[in-house]
Formats: sequence, structure tokens, C-alpha cells
Amino acid sequence: MTILITGAAGFIGANFVLDWLAQSDEPVVNLDKLTYAGNLETLASLQDDARHTFVQGDIGDAELVARLLAQHQPRAVLNFAAESHVDRSIHSPEDFIQTNIVGTFRLLEAVRAYWGGLPEDAKSAFRFLHVSTDEVYGSLGATDPAFTETHRYEPNSPYSASKAASDHLVRAYHHTYGLPVLTTNCSNNYGPYHFPEKLIPLMIVNALAGKPLPVYGDGMQVRDWLYVKDHCSAIRRVLDAGRPGEVYNIGGWNEKPNIEIVHTVCALLDELRPKPDANSYSAQISYVKDRPGHDRRYAIDASKIERELGWKPAETFESGIRKTVQWYLANPEWVAHVQSGAYRDWVQTQYAATAEA
Ligand code: NAD
Ligand code: TYD
Repeated sequence: MTILITGAAGFIGANFVLDWLAQSDEPVVNLDKLTYAGNLETLASLQDDARHTFVQGDIGDAELVARLLAQHQPRAVLNFAAESHVDRSIHSPEDFIQTNIVGTFRLLEAVRAYWGGLPEDAKSAFRFLHVSTDEVYGSLGATDPAFTETHRYEPNSPYSASKAASDHLVRAYHHTYGLPVLTTNCSNNYGPYHFPEKLIPLMIVNALAGKPLPVYGDGMQVRDWLYVKDHCSAIRRVLDAGRPGEVYNIGGWNEKPNIEIVHTVCALLDELRPKPDANSYSAQISYVKDRPGHDRRYAIDASKIERELGWKPAETFESGIRKTVQWYLANPEWVAHVQSGAYRDWVQTQYAATAEA
């Protein structure tokens, strides 16, 4: 048996493949376009591992996907591939529409054709697992109950709107064609191999480089944070035992305002890599112009996956964030290599604009 994973050179997909092959000998075919966010160095330990086949390509390339499905006959397709950064979606939404909506549609079409030709037992055992986000549900008020799976879709950014559209397509392929789909909507992940355009790795990398730590607006926006390996274990559980057609929210029961996250990162760095002058990294915090349409609060009610599938996060935020900071301190080469020319151009565009508070 084999599984096909898309976008597994990115942050969560790569963590998923590393964990999968640490626990199972079932081979993985990894289809990834290698955009700026895809990095094969993360999977360097699998270079000579026959269980991992890497294919560079686009989920929207119907011919390529059809060929891979026919060749490898996977029992499941897991779709991690996406454009994933909200700020980039605000600057240039086009890629989000192409990959997250059109790409998911083309992938679904190729999978539907392949699945339709499988023998009955393989057909009913097949799964299409779509990895999505809590951002599709929009923004909560301070005292609103957390998002459940039946919460209305109210996406506010081009990123969340494109993910919402992909979720709807996945749902439709189940209801219309009977494709055995599973959808997961997860909160903000953090952990090893996280591209340093997102809040937590950006703060670690900037702090160590002596640069400002840019906090948008008043820093009181709330996110639920989940250690990436817990997200991976939840996806494995949903793949094993989730009911086709169902949606599972995944979260860490860990809501925190951004400014508290930044102070926690600074305190850990003060402890693990104190500055020579003994000042705190928190002196580098700099409030900048807010993100347009910035969602105020996300919170996930993850009781369905716990009740029905017995999944709960293993890490607390305290243990997960410590591991994360330690990982970045131990892996400066990985960080240096992803900070390519394209990364530097992005940082310049984004933070030159936000500095105009
Ligand atoms: P990421 O940006 O780090 O990685 C995305 C990967 O997809 C990259 O390797 C990229 O090369 C690849 N890719 C992009 N377009 C592609 C295309 N057209 N065809 C093939 N590959 C393509 O993203 P991530 O943080 O690892 O997120 C993975 C998935 O999880 C996404 O679908 C995202 O919406 C979802 N998600 C992310 C978070 C989070 O906190 N990071 C939370 C919930 C859900
Ligand atoms: P991010 O990591 O981009 O994830 P998302 O927008 O998908 O939740 O941002 C997390 C939070 O941190 C979000 O409220 C925006 C905020 N943020 C900053 O304050 N400064 C930054 O430089 C970045 C990248 C994010």
C-alpha cells in the first residue's frame, strides 16, 4: 500500500512525512511544486530512503496527477498543498486562487477518475483527506464560543476564502460523486521547519539577528496554537478512523494573544541564548501597522475528534514552544538556507509597508 501526499516539502506536510515514516513502512509519494515555501532540505534524511518518492509538480497538472495515481495506486491522497500565508494573499491573491481553488479542483477531478476505476473493496477503503484551516470560520468576538464543525463559513482574507472554496469543493465531491473524503480544519501550527514568514519563527529569527520584532496593531489578536506533531498525529487518526464525509476540527485548547506569544519566545531566548549585554530580547518588540481585515480571534472546539476518535494533543504550549525555540537554535543552517533572495524580497516588501504606521 502507498499514500500520495501533496505539499509535503512544506512545513506541516514535511513534518507529517517524517513522522509517518518513523512509524510505518508504508511508502509515500510526495507531489510538491517547490514554491518558495517548499524545501527539500527538510526531507534530506529521506534522500536514500526507498519509502519516499519525491515528484516536483503542480496539483493542478491533471496529466501528471493521473499518471502518478495510475503508477502508484495509492490507497489515500492527503492534500496539504496550498499557498498558506495570509499576508502574501493580501499582496497577491492570484496564486491562492490558482493553487487552493483551481488546483484542488483539478486534483479532485483526477482522484475521482482514478477512484472510479478501482475495484469495489479498494474503492470503499480509499480516502481523500483535505487539510484545511480554522480561518474559514472567520473571526470571533472575545466571549464567543469556539468554532465547532457546524460553525458558519465567514472567511475574511483571500487566503481563508480560497481555503473555504476548496473545502466546499471537497464536500461537493462527496455528496455528488460519493468520493470518500475527510476534511480537517486546524488552528495555527508551530514547531520545527516552520518558514520564518509566520509569527513564531519570524520572531525567533529576527530576535537572534538583532532585528525588530514586528507586532501588528495592538498585538491582542488571539490564535489557538497547536504543536505541528500533534496536528500530524490528528491527521493520522482521522485517516485511520474518520468517517467519510465528516469534518474534524483540530486544535490545542490553547488560545493566546500574539503579544503573549512574542514575550514567551523572548523569555525562552533570554534563558537559552542570553544576549551578551544581558538585555531582554523583548526590547526589540516594535508595534507596526495592522494587517488589513485582521481577524481578531480564532478558537477551536476540538471535542468532536476527542469524543469520536480519541485524539488529544500530547504537547502543552509550554513544552511545544520550548522544543521549537531549541530546534531553531540548533538548526541555524536550515534557517540560513531558506532565507534566500526570494525570502529577503518578501520581508522587504511586507515590513516596509507595515512600518508606515
Ligand atoms: P506551507 O506554505 O509551509 O507549505 C505548502 C507546500 O505546498 C509547499 O511545500 C509548496 O511548495 C507546496 N505547494 C504550493 N502550491 C502547490 C501546488 N500548486 N502544487 C503542489 N505543491 C504546491 O504550508 P503549511 O503551513 O505546511 O500548510 C499545509 C496545509 O495546512 C495548507 O493546506 C494550509 O492551508 C493548512 N493549514 C496550515 C496551518 C498552519 O498553521 N501552518 C494551520 C491549519 C491548516
Ligand atoms: P501568522 O503566523 O501569519 O498566521 P495567521 O495569520 O494565519 O494566523 O500570524 C499569526 C498572528 O500573528 C496573526 O494574528 C498575525 C500576527 N503577526 C504579527 O503580529 N506580526 C508578524 O510579523 C506576523 C507574520 C504575524
